[in-house]
Amino acid sequence: MLYLMNHKNTLIAPSLLAADFTRLAQEIRAVEAAGADWLHLDIMDGHFVPNISFGPGIIKQIRKLTKLPFDVHLMIAPVDPLLPEFIAAGADWISVHPESGPHLHRTLASIREAGKHPGVVLNPSTPISELDHVMDITDQILIMTVNPGFGGQKFLPLFEKISLVHDKIKKSGRGIRLAVDGGVSLDNAAQLRAAGADVLIAGTSIFGKGAENYAKTILQLRG
Ligand code: DX5
Ligand code: ZN
Repeated sequence: MLYLMNHKNTLIAPSLLAADFTRLAQEIRAVEAAGADWLHLDIMDGHFVPNISFGPGIIKQIRKLTKLPFDVHLMIAPVDPLLPEFIAAGADWISVHPESGPHLHRTLASIREAGKHPGVVLNPSTPISELDHVMDITDQILIMTVNPGFGGQKFLPLFEKISLVHDKIKKSGRGIRLAVDGGVSLDNAAQLRAAGADVLIAGTSIFGKGAENYAKTILQLRG
């Protein structure tokens, strides 16, 4: 059991933000067929982050297209009032930034009460200490390796931060998933896995290469 908890298989979560939105259904089916484990959905409100993406209405529609678990990354503030919408739309994992509401523990608890997996997202400048008192109510910790808001940005090499969070997860004794989001590519995937990351979220490095390469890229990212 301990072995299983400490040696999690790497999951690959393509970030839909980088997909061709004129062919959304084909793109989702293509990454599913190519071996993606989760679909990462970036929700941006033009207020918490300087960009707007899409909302629960789109999630509800695409929920019918695929069996992939939906990993919903909420970049909206205040986050609490809209949680029920994302839960109803079909989110499986819901990750929030500590800065997006006044009571992180309460937000995570409400996600868990709804039967979904709560996650905490740390911006590059957000300290690891934000996790101190929520480890028991968190199923995923997501380390941002870009400032949130856009796909295709330059990767920030926060390997030490990832290792420290990995140690913290080990100490917790809970099988918390450790995800990395932003600029993930074949150039850094091996080093990210070595630092302890077990979910690699990748937009541009998967969708940017054309559907014929999705399977190969996903396989190589997984290592
Ligand atoms: C950024 C988003 C990321 C983004 C990743 O705010 O959270 O999920 O889509 O895109 P790439 O892989 O292109 O950096
Ligand atoms: Zn994201």
